[in-house]
Amino acid sequence: MKLEYSNTQDWAKAKDAYDPLRKYREQFFIPRDASGQQLIYLCGNSLGLQPKTTRSALDQELRDWKNYGVEGHFHAKNPWMPYHEFLTEAMAEVVGAKKHEVVVMNTLSVNLHLMMVSFYRPTKKRFKILIESDAFPSDKYAVESQAKFHGYDPTDAVIELKPREGETCLRSEDIQATIEKEGQAIALIMIGNTNYYTGQFFDMKSITEWGHAQGCKVGFDCAHGAGNVDLNLHDTGADFAVWCTYKYLNSGPGSLGGVFVHERHAEDDTLPKFTGWWGHKKETRFKMRDGFEPIKGVESWQLSNPPILSMAAIWASLKIFQEAGIDNLRKKSLHLSGYLRYLIEEQDNKQITIITPSEDAERGSQQSIQVKNANKAIFEKITAQGVIADWREPDVIRVATTALYNSYEDVYRFVEILKAEL
Ligand SMILES: Cc1ncc(COP(=O)(O)O)c(C=O)c1O
Repeated sequence: MKLEYSNTQDWAKAKDAYDPLRKYREQFFIPRDASGQQLIYLCGNSLGLQPKTTRSALDQELRDWKNYGVEGHFHAKNPWMPYHEFLTEAMAEVVGAKKHEVVVMNTLSVNLHLMMVSFYRPTKKRFKILIESDAFPSDKYAVESQAKFHGYDPTDAVIELKPREGETCLRSEDIQATIEKEGQAIALIMIGNTNYYTGQFFDMKSITEWGHAQGCKVGFDCAHGAGNVDLNLHDTGADFAVWCTYKYLNSGPGSLGGVFVHERHAEDDTLPKFTGWWGHKKETRFKMRDGFEPIKGVESWQLSNPPILSMAAIWASLKIFQEAGIDNLRKKSLHLSGYLRYLIEEQDNKQITIITPSEDAERGSQQSIQVKNANKAIFEKITAQGVIADWREPDVIRVATTALYNSYEDVYRFVEILKAEL
């Protein structure tokens, strides 16, 4: 792989010129500095950029609201009543699921709780939840509060998967060993499929198989996976997954999340659920009668009528993914992040280490660069040079080279700036 790369700006430019996905960068607003220069935006793992089509998608709904008022539910160009259904096929493609396994609704932490209502069913003997020790804080708060809600002490009920002494990522064999050792007491395995801190992309299929063999339910937080890696959710066999759409899926700050529930649970009416009118059978929802009759499938987890403006932004973005193809994006993403690794390894600077695994199957677009003996000042310096990345205490710069809008030249220029500031 390394031989294909070269440490020159000309090589990066030439690579961009022949990139079959290059036209997509033009379809996004790239933030600029005060002098009008485009910044090097490496923060798609936090907030994706705005597609140029988002505004017209939102305008359409604002116009229909202006012209139709409540009648827009039926007469808008894209009627609001079934609006979430317009997103389903493209979202299912992005996450590798069947259409009836995916719905866009609520936001990530809310959806995680809703999934745990259904899939965390602790008993006296089996009440534990397995999670990574450096899972995103919201996920940890969510699993701890669920354990408490069921009357358990989280220090007892939550098992954390920790990397080995002196290591930052988890080893598959250690995950497997923990599941085999503790599995009979574990009710739920809930893992961030691509870890927000290290960027490690876990082998979801194996984790699911190990968990199911022990009788555990298995779910994933795919906030850092959706639109980034090939999730193949259906084939993993996972019971559920949740994700947000404002990172790699470019739908705007605080936008709605997505939920996957495997089809084997679709018609299981014994699963407990928190319910609301949007999960009620569409044919009879507006009869407004007592007695909840669930839609068959994942849509039955919906509670409220959804915010159309947020969905319009998601839909606009998903159309770009459908056109570009998630497999093509994954291919470019691996090549771009491989270039970043190559340039950093070329420097042979002992002060910096990429803590994200190097194997393609174990990483997505994000790479986490540890800067030894550094503080945030180094990050502030690179920011002042026109790089938008993010800093995670105590010493990690997270950079995401996003296939839709990042170029090889972005990667080259970023590494040159980092090198200069080190
Ligand atoms: C891995 C992960 N989980 C959960 C969250 C929380 O998402 P939300 O604020 O949409 O609930 C985030 C937000 O960045 C995240 O990265």
